[in-house]
Amino acid sequence: DYQKPVALPEEPFLVIAHRGASAYAPAHTFPSYELAIDMGAHYIELDLHRTKDGKLVVLHNDSIELNGSELEIDEITSDTLGAFKPADEFNQPTNEFASQRFSSLRVPSLEQVLREFGDQTNYYIEIKSPDRYPGIEQQLIDQLAGHDLLNREDSIPKVIIQSFSSDSLKKVHELSPETPLIQLYSFKKKANLSSSKLKQVTHYASGIGVNATAVTEQLVDAVHQAGLAIHPFTVNEREQFSSLFSMGIDGVFTDKPDLILQLLNQD
Ligand code: G3P
Ligand code: CA
Repeated sequence: DYQKPVALPEEPFLVIAHRGASAYAPAHTFPSYELAIDMGAHYIELDLHRTKDGKLVVLHNDSIELNGSELEIDEITSDTLGAFKPADEFNQPTNEFASQRFSSLRVPSLEQVLREFGDQTNYYIEIKSPDRYPGIEQQLIDQLAGHDLLNREDSIPKVIIQSFSSDSLKKVHELSPETPLIQLYSFKKKANLSSSKLKQVTHYASGIGVNATAVTEQLVDAVHQAGLAIHPFTVNEREQFSSLFSMGIDGVFTDKPDLILQLLNQD
């Protein structure tokens, strides 16, 4: 027994700023999110982890390198994480967007992001490595509810939650059946998802996210047949975008929301 997931609106085509406008500013930092919002992206994408002291934090990897050691996020406190500089990787001499003004940035907590942007933007949140973080689903839903970001009547959902883990998404669907969910997949070659597999996904999710190189027209059609949406990741090139767009995808993850919006507005 399950509550049918909500359908995502067919319009607009969703521009999802992957880790913010992360081509132009360090991923998962305030400048990256601000830029994405200023450019007009529909969503900022957040990757979620939890520190040893129980804080939800926004960064991509399961671990950081600090003073020559590899530290797992679930084994360090938020204080320790506070010493990590997310801009170091971005600020390479070969990067034309590198800037010293980024060097003081720190990994934001989910709380800081929600407090800063409130309902100015929409959030496309990935639960990373849920097996490492028991109870993260309830914690996330509580935190979003505390900011009044769930069960709203906006033209597009204020929050979408994504994960590679179907178990985690099923938990979220039970806790918050009105929140649209995206089942992520990554395929080495072309995507292979049977219609019965896609039907199972419809029990808890509103769409799928797939690596862009795996997407075929047949997949897009099968996903739509099942009543799901499809958002490929991560598309930063004009030609790749045009090809996927002509297959009928519903949105895209991009490090360059300005490029995608420009291409969309040309039509
Ligand atoms: O969440 C979609 C896409 O971002 C998954 O890949 O590794 O960039 O989080 P990753
Ligand atoms: Ca992600």
